[in-house]
Amino acid sequence: MYPTSSFESFVERSDKFPLEKFARAKDLLIIDKNVLVKLPGLTRDWRFVYAVEAGEELKSFAGFAARLEQILELWKTPISRSSRIVAVGGGSVGDFAGFIASVLKRGVRLEHVPSTWLAAIDSAHGGKTALNVGGVKNQIGTFYPAQAVHLVREILDTQPEGRALEGLGELVKIALLEGDKMFAALIDGAGEKPAALLWKLLEPAIAAKYAVVRQDPQELSGARKILNLGHTMGHVFEAAYGRSHGESVTQGLWFALEWSRHKNILSSREWDKIRDVFVRLNLQRWTDQVDFISLEARSVLALLAQDKKMTADDKVDFVFLRTVGGPVVQPVMIEEIMLEGIRQGWVRGAI
Ligand SMILES: NC(=O)c1ccc[n+]([C@@H]2O[C@H](COP(=O)([O-])OP(=O)(O)OC[C@H]3O[C@@H](n4cnc5c(N)ncnc54)[C@H](O)[C@@H]3O)[C@@H](O)[C@H]2O)c1
Repeated sequence: MYPTSSFESFVERSDKFPLEKFARAKDLLIIDKNVLVKLPGLTRDWRFVYAVEAGEELKSFAGFAARLEQILELWKTPISRSSRIVAVGGGSVGDFAGFIASVLKRGVRLEHVPSTWLAAIDSAHGGKTALNVGGVKNQIGTFYPAQAVHLVREILDTQPEGRALEGLGELVKIALLEGDKMFAALIDGAGEKPAALLWKLLEPAIAAKYAVVRQDPQELSGARKILNLGHTMGHVFEAAYGRSHGESVTQGLWFALEWSRHKNILSSREWDKIRDVFVRLNLQRWTDQVDFISLEARSVLALLAQDKKMTADDKVDFVFLRTVGGPVVQPVMIEEIMLEGIRQGWVRGAI
C-alpha cells in the first residue's frame, strides 16, 4: 500500500522479516524481548540492538531519560535526521520507539514491524506515539507516522493462538466503521481460523483506518473520534477487570451497540445482523457476562473521569452506531453512561 499523504506509511506484507531492507550496521533495532526469544535470528548481523520488556512500564515517562541514555550509549554511530529506528513489537514498543524517533535530533526515520495483531491493525498506523505520566496512560505524545510498516507473517505467527481471537475485536470495530464491504468479508471468513482471517483482512482494515486518519490526521476536526468506537467503556473494562485490550474492546463494542439500539439509533434488525457476527466469530463468550462481577459505580466513575476524550463541559464524545458503516458521535454526560451501565448489568450501585 502506498501512502497518499504525509500522515500515512508505506505498508508492505511479507512472510519473512525483510532483513535486506535495513542497514544493519547503522540502524537501531528496538525489539520486544519476547519476540527475540522466539525468533533469535532476527538480529543476525545487526550492530545496534536494544531489547526491551514490553508493556506499560516501557512507556513510563519517569524511566524515559534512563532509557534514552542507554540508547545513546549503545547507538555508537553519528546520529542524524536520516538515521533510522526500526521497532519490532506490539503497541507499547511502537509507542515508545515512535516517541524517541520523533524527538531524537528533532526526528529520525522510523519503521514499524508490528508483532501483535493490535499493532498490525491499529497502533502502527496513524502516527500516534505516547508515554504514560504518573501512571496515567498516554499523557504525552507526538504525531509521528512511520515511513514504513512491515507486516511480517513469521513475526505475527509467534503470538499464542488466543491472541488472534483478541485481535478480532479491533477487526470488528474497523469493519463496523468501514461499512458493508468489510463487514461482508468478515461474515464470509467467519469459519476460518482467527489468525488466517486477520492476515487476510489486514489490508482493508488498515486502508479503512487511513481513510479516517486522512480526514483528521491530528485530531483537530474531530473526524478521527469515530475510531474510538467501543473504546470508552472498553478502557474501563480493561482497567477494572485487568483482561486483554482485545477482549475489553469487544465488551466495549457490545456496550456501545446495545446502547445504540436502546436509544433507537441502531435498528433492531441491524443489531441482530451484527450480533450474529459476534456469535460466528466466537466473540460472544466475552460479552454474555456470565464470568463478570458487575463493577462498582464509584470506580467506573473515576475511570471515566480520566477519559481523555472528555469535552470541556465534562461530557464524553461517545461513538454510537446508526448502521454498519454509519457511526455517530454524540456528547453524553458521564452519568448517562453510568445509568446505561447499570441498565446493561455491567455497573452496580448508586451514582
Ligand atoms: N499509538 C496508537 O495509535 C495506539 C493504538 C492502540 C493501542 N496503543 C498502545 O498499545 C499498547 C498495547 O499494545 P499491544 O496490545 O500490541 O501489546 P504490548 O506491546 O503491550 O505487548 C503485550 C505483551 O505481548 C507480548 N508480545 C508482543 N508480541 C508478541 C509475540 N509476537 N509473541 C509473543 N508475545 C508477544 C509482549 O512482550 C507483552 O508481554 C498500549 O500501550 C496502548 O496504549 C497505541
